[in-house]
Amino acid sequence: MKHLISIKYLNLKEINSIFAIAQDAKKNRRKYSALLAGKNIALIFQKPSLRTRVSFEVGIRQLGGNCVYLGCNEINLGVREAVSDVAKTLSRYVDGIVLRTFAHEYVVELAKCSSIPVINGLSDLLHPCQALSDIFTIKEKFRKLNKVVLSFVGDGNNVCNSLLYLCASLGMTLNIACPENYAPQHHVVEEAKDIAKASGAKINISHDADLAVKDADVVYTDVWTSMGQEAEKAERLKAFNKFQINEALLALANKDCLVMHCLPAHRGEEITDAVLDGKNSIVFDQAENRLHVQKAILIKLFK
Ligand code: CP
Ligand code: NVA
Repeated sequence: MKHLISIKYLNLKEINSIFAIAQDAKKNRRKYSALLAGKNIALIFQKPSLRTRVSFEVGIRQLGGNCVYLGCNEINLGVREAVSDVAKTLSRYVDGIVLRTFAHEYVVELAKCSSIPVINGLSDLLHPCQALSDIFTIKEKFRKLNKVVLSFVGDGNNVCNSLLYLCASLGMTLNIACPENYAPQHHVVEEAKDIAKASGAKINISHDADLAVKDADVVYTDVWTSMGQEAEKAERLKAFNKFQINEALLALANKDCLVMHCLPAHRGEEITDAVLDGKNSIVFDQAENRLHVQKAILIKLFK
């Protein structure tokens, strides 16, 4: 593993090794406390963040390293300076980069032009650290991932795309329900279906939330309006109104079906308070696991 750009570039052995290290790092925090000693990681964030920023900063420090945070108004990636020049400059100062940005091409370009590892901390296309933490969280609750039915109800966005690649690799069943014009990207679905041929994963995409949650062990949702799409909010609220995770929808899923959300949530839109705060919600386990799984990713990239 040289970078973490997309889960589609990880093989099963690498995915399982990330999960195994995350599990170990969660139990034995001290064991890895010098792994990044003397190393500096730059965090370039062109969008807001709570979980990703804090879990990376704390995780890097727990591994003995330092971070340099470069927020929205600092380097103005691709505008003040070409992505390739930023990549080459930072490669002379720091040992790794976490990038949260809009265009996925920026992540690809930054990795191509850097001589140090690059981690995708969210792009408009993908959110690989999120999906890895999510499936690690599911693995903690269920023994066999290939027996788990995960239903994603909502926007076919960056989180959904990364879940598609990961569920496909792990032989899971992923049911996606989204409004007609908000399906996950065609090329992602095709690539995931291709991966699924070898793993036995089942990927079903429909426009019917009731159908998608039938037999679900876990129901997952994310915001209807992602960062950068704010101008489309009114139109999206209309298009998604049948795709809310509420108690009536959950009643159609398996008994004790768990509820996930990557957060931040727009309460009252994609999910009700009763469900988000309900007894089957594992959203803060998910949030916690960002820390452990990202430490595992750093350990894989820097060991
Ligand atoms: N889930 C997630 O990535 O949260 P932040 O946007 O707060 O980092
Ligand atoms: N789909 C959301 C995820 C936030 C963690 C967004 O891109 O805004």
